[in-house]
Amino acid sequence: MNLTLKIWRQNGPSVKGRLVDYKVTDISEHMSFLEMMDVLNEQLINKGDEPVAFDHDCREGICGMCS
Ligand code: FES
Repeated sequence: MNLTLKIWRQNGPSVKGRLVDYKVTDISEHMSFLEMMDVLNEQLINKGDEPVAFDHDCREGICGMCS
């Protein structure tokens, strides 16, 4: 499955941010949201782009960090 994600990018609290569209390819319908973000970051890194920072901890739906 291929998706287009709209992600807020901002380099710091005092810097103006913007929404950026990212096309992510080869997403499995069985992936979690965090696994999808890992795929996006792998694709960004492979292109030499800055990966997306996002909060997470347990990756098991327990801690709530990723919500
Ligand atoms: S990282 Fe999502 S619930 Fe813990």
